[in-house]
Amino acid sequence: MKFVGTLQLPGDKSISHRAIMLSAIADGVSYVRNLNDGADLQSTINILKQCGASIEQRNNEIIIDGKELQSPTKELDCGNSGTTTRLIAGLLASQKLTFSLIGDESLSKRPMERIIRPLKEMGCKISSNNGLLPLSIDASGGISSLDFDMKIASAQVKSSILFSALGGNNVSSINEIIPTRNHSEIMLNNMGALIERKGDKIVVHPLKSKLKSIDISVPSDPSSSAFFAGLAVISNNSKLKLTNVLLNESRIGFVEVLKRMNCLVKKSNESIHNGEKVGDLTFRSSNLKAIEVESKIIPSIIDEIPILAVIAAFAKGTTVFNNVEELKYKECDRLSAIIHNLKAFGIKTYENNNNLFVEGGRIKKMAEITTFDDHRIAMAFTILSLNSFKKYKLDNKKCVDISLPNFFKYLGEVTK
Ligand code: S3P
Repeated sequence: MKFVGTLQLPGDKSISHRAIMLSAIADGVSYVRNLNDGADLQSTINILKQCGASIEQRNNEIIIDGKELQSPTKELDCGNSGTTTRLIAGLLASQKLTFSLIGDESLSKRPMERIIRPLKEMGCKISSNNGLLPLSIDASGGISSLDFDMKIASAQVKSSILFSALGGNNVSSINEIIPTRNHSEIMLNNMGALIERKGDKIVVHPLKSKLKSIDISVPSDPSSSAFFAGLAVISNNSKLKLTNVLLNESRIGFVEVLKRMNCLVKKSNESIHNGEKVGDLTFRSSNLKAIEVESKIIPSIIDEIPILAVIAAFAKGTTVFNNVEELKYKECDRLSAIIHNLKAFGIKTYENNNNLFVEGGRIKKMAEITTFDDHRIAMAFTILSLNSFKKYKLDNKKCVDISLPNFFKYLGEVTK
């Protein structure tokens, strides 16, 4: 079995959330094409509509007519989406609204203290279930400025603060020592806000007038692309080209990791759209070697670690991912989920002090994939199983709908 072809995958999930949210508070009509088609985006769209946003979906285009948002009358359901929860909290706070956020079972276990603390410091009244959802937020008293030190490297926390600070009474700043994805900063500056980066410091100026509307086509999601990259590099006689991929440095750490593992990768056709780098990536069958992945680049590969751990299972030697604690707080405890599934397929792997070790070797036995209802665990281990056994069995195939509903269709298209 080999994997050959060219794919253009749906839009990046992080940029899609930001484009819809910021357009909803902008002045005039925005057009967003190639939006991510996963369930998480529907959560964001439904919530904004509940707050009075005018959002129309026409084929591959979303048309948003910026409006004054209103406090919703019912709870806002963030579904499975951490990005929706944390970014919407900041966005609606900037509009001085009062609202409650709920989510599914997985989201209700994820830590929210990380946004509760800064938003409270900015003047929001917040109640929660011991730092977990449901959250009730009252921002009607206004937003004060904040100087915040990021202790956890999280683009969601950073964006929550950036968004709320837009409605602040004075200039705010965020000290970010380990850089995380910067799509909020790029998009906000494109829409007329003033966000300055001064070394580790991000300075946010409150909006003097409404954001300008946007007209964008969202580049393909590098996090979804990583699964097909993985499939090509671990398989024989394979070559997959992914076109129009978002190549923002803070997102394509996995390409650098793969290069260090000896992978054959080619970047081509690079250009800049709406401040974001875009281009094509081609991956070929490779002779993989183990490496040590240092903790400072973990934020730039945070969503790709499940597939990188699978790739490491095919490399010569033991790959180490240092300081991956944040994996525990994703859609499931991904650190445990990775170890559980690698072991099920007969790979030696363990965790020590939040460092993940994967010993490359032969995949010894076919196993049913335990997804823990997590889209990225499901896709990563489908790649492993398909390569090794030409088939796969998952306890929940549907969970891929969160970020890439047509994952299995794309797989079919490139399987020869
Ligand atoms: C995201 C940030 C990351 C990432 C998530 C999307 C974003 O989360 O894992 O899938 O769009 O800002 P953290 O900020 O919690 O690391």
